[in-house]
Amino acid sequence: MNLPLDPARIRAEFPSFRQADLQGFAHFENAGGSFTAAPVLNRMRDFYWNHKVQPYEHFGPGRAATKAMEESYRRMAQAMNVAADWIHFGPSTSANTYTLAHAFANWLRPADAIIVTNQDHEANSGVWRKLSSRGIEIREWQVDKQTGHLDLNALDKLLDSKVRLVCMPHVSNIVGEINPVADAVKKAKAFGAVTIVDGVSYAPHGLPDLLQLGCDIYLFSAYKVYGPHQGVMAVRPSLASELPNQSHFFNETVREKRLNPAGPDHAQIAAAAGIVDYLEKVADIAGIGVQGAGPFRIAHNAMRVQEQTLLAPLLDYLRNKNGIRLLGPDDPVKRAPTVSIVLDRPAAHVAGMISRHNVGVGGGHFYGWRVLEAMGVNPLHGVLRMSFVHYTTPEEVTRLIAALDAEL
Ligand SMILES: Cc1ncc(COP(=O)(O)O)c(C=O)c1O
Repeated sequence: MNLPLDPARIRAEFPSFRQADLQGFAHFENAGGSFTAAPVLNRMRDFYWNHKVQPYEHFGPGRAATKAMEESYRRMAQAMNVAADWIHFGPSTSANTYTLAHAFANWLRPADAIIVTNQDHEANSGVWRKLSSRGIEIREWQVDKQTGHLDLNALDKLLDSKVRLVCMPHVSNIVGEINPVADAVKKAKAFGAVTIVDGVSYAPHGLPDLLQLGCDIYLFSAYKVYGPHQGVMAVRPSLASELPNQSHFFNETVREKRLNPAGPDHAQIAAAAGIVDYLEKVADIAGIGVQGAGPFRIAHNAMRVQEQTLLAPLLDYLRNKNGIRLLGPDDPVKRAPTVSIVLDRPAAHVAGMISRHNVGVGGGHFYGWRVLEAMGVNPLHGVLRMSFVHYTTPEEVTRLIAALDAEL
C-alpha cells in the first residue's frame, strides 16, 4: 500500500489511541466525530490552567487569554489561505447556519430566490427553506435518484438573475461524492449570487484553499476535524459586514461577535489553533514525498492519498457484495471515505451486530433525510455508514471488511 503518512507517527499525535478502554476498537464513525489531536488538548489545557479569566480585559491573564484566542483566528485563516478577518466561531455548524439564515432573512428581498440542494445535511437546508415564509423563492438543485450525484447542468437550469444565494455541500455526509464547488461557485457568481458551502464532511480530509474554491462562506465543525466542539465559518469580510448584526446592538462593530449571538466559547476557540498545529505535523510526517504549496496543501494532499489507498479495498469488497446498494461513486478518487450502504435490514440493527466485532459504524439517516428520500431509501430504515480518516490503519480496514462479511 502506498501510504504517505506513517500510521504509527500519526496515531502518536492522538492520546485516545493510548487509552486502555479504546484498545482494539476500530472507529468507523468519524463523520460523526473524530478523535482529538494532542496539540488541541494541550492548548485547551493551557487555557484552563494558565489564563482562564475573561479575555479582552486590561490585566495580564486577560491579555494572555485574548492572545491565545486571536492566535486561533490567525492560524485557522492561514490553513485555509484567507485573512484572519474571514474567521468566525460559533457553537456548531447547525447554530452557525441558523444565525446566518437570520442574517440573510433581512438581507434578502421578497421575490429573491435561493438555491438549496436535496443532497445537504439538514443544517444547510432547512434554515434556508424556512425563508419561504418571508416570500423568498426556494429552488431545489436535485440529485440523480440512482447515484446521488449533483449535476452542474441541473444547476445551470436553476440560475437566473433572481438568485441571490446558492447553498450546497462540499461533500454529502451520505453520498460521499466530492462536489465540483469551484465550478458551481463560478456559475453562481456569473449571476451575482452569494455562495455558501457546507464543508463539514470535507474538512476532516484536508482544509481547503478557500481562494481557490472562491465561495463566500465555508462552514465546518471543528469536532470532526480533530478539534474542540466548535463550528467554524469563513465569511468573506465584505459580506460579513454587509449582513445585519446578530449580536447585541453595541456589538455591531465587533467583528467576531456580529455573527455569534451565543457569545464565544473562549477556551475552545483558543484550542482550535491546535488543529492547525496538527496539520503542520501531518505535513512534517508526509515529508518530501508529497507535493504542495506549503504545509497545509501538503497535509491535504497526503491525507487524500492516504485515504484513497485505504478506501480502495473497502470499495472493492462492497462492489462485489450481493444484496447491498452502495450510495455514491465506487471510485476512491471521486469521494471522501464516508461510505453508506443500503441493506435489507434496518441499518441501526446491523450497526449493533458489527459492534460485536469491536468495530464502530453508524446506522441511521444522519440528518440526511432529504437525500435518502430522494434516492428511494426510507430514512427510518437508514443506511449503514462507514467513515474514516487518515489516522485509520490498513489493519482496521481489514477488520471492518471481515466484520461486514460475517454479518451481512
Ligand atoms: C455534512 C454536515 N453538515 C452539517 C452538520 C452539522 O454540524 P454540527 O453538528 O456542527 O451542527 C453535520 C453533522 O453531522 C454534517 O455531517
